[in-house]
Amino acid sequence: MKPPETIETERLFLRKPCMDDAPAIFEGWARHPEVTRFLTWYPHQNVEQSQVLLQRSIAAWDGETHFRYLLEVKEDASLAGMIELRMEPFKMSFGYTGAIRHWGKGYMTEAARAAIDWAFQQPNIFRVYATADVENVPSRRVLEKAGMTREGILRKDSIHPNISDEPRDCYIYAIVK
Ligand SMILES: CC(C)(COP(=O)(O)OP(=O)(O)OC[C@H]1O[C@@H](n2cnc3c(N)ncnc32)[C@H](O)[C@@H]1OP(=O)(O)O)[C@@H](O)C(=O)NCCC(=O)NCCS
Repeated sequence: MKPPETIETERLFLRKPCMDDAPAIFEGWARHPEVTRFLTWYPHQNVEQSQVLLQRSIAAWDGETHFRYLLEVKEDASLAGMIELRMEPFKMSFGYTGAIRHWGKGYMTEAARAAIDWAFQQPNIFRVYATADVENVPSRRVLEKAGMTREGILRKDSIHPNISDEPRDCYIYAIVK
């Protein structure tokens, strides 16, 4: 099932991206090595790479499984990051990246809570989960603050190429209805 194109929270609009967002994404987070450290992709070298990400994200909205939102701060319309909701039968997962200048303000926790709230309003979603590299402390905090429980460790689960070519251990967090 398809989530709405906009989800409103106290301080944010979670909204579907558009191509004009590429420069803000590139400058705000995609080009920074400290952002991509625990991610599956390399920092973008130029704004064209951010445009490709956006093209794919916008196209995916026509499908049924991957829905990426930008976090637009109500106060000044700046972008605080992005969160992608991924649908599976009876459950949903999500992944996220924050704009460096907005780190530590609780925005990603607010977005994660809104995603979970939306999911549990759907009669056929019973579980929401996310994973984070065992060393990704800020990300683990987001999941804990969003009310999720650490269920275990997924050993050698994900390659984070900015750290190593070997797959790394990740924690899995979840919340159920
Ligand atoms: C993970 C991330 C999205 C968090 O975004 P955010 O908007 O700062 O999230 P919040 O403000 O809700 O919470 C972040 C928590 O991490 C802590 N934190 C922030 N920066 C930190 C840092 N450099 N070192 C340690 N802790 C940090 C904050 O203090 C906060 O915890 P607290 O409320 O207990 O103090 C952001 O750090 C990020 O973009 N990281 C890089 C991309 C990434 O790793 N994505 C997740 C992949 S699983």
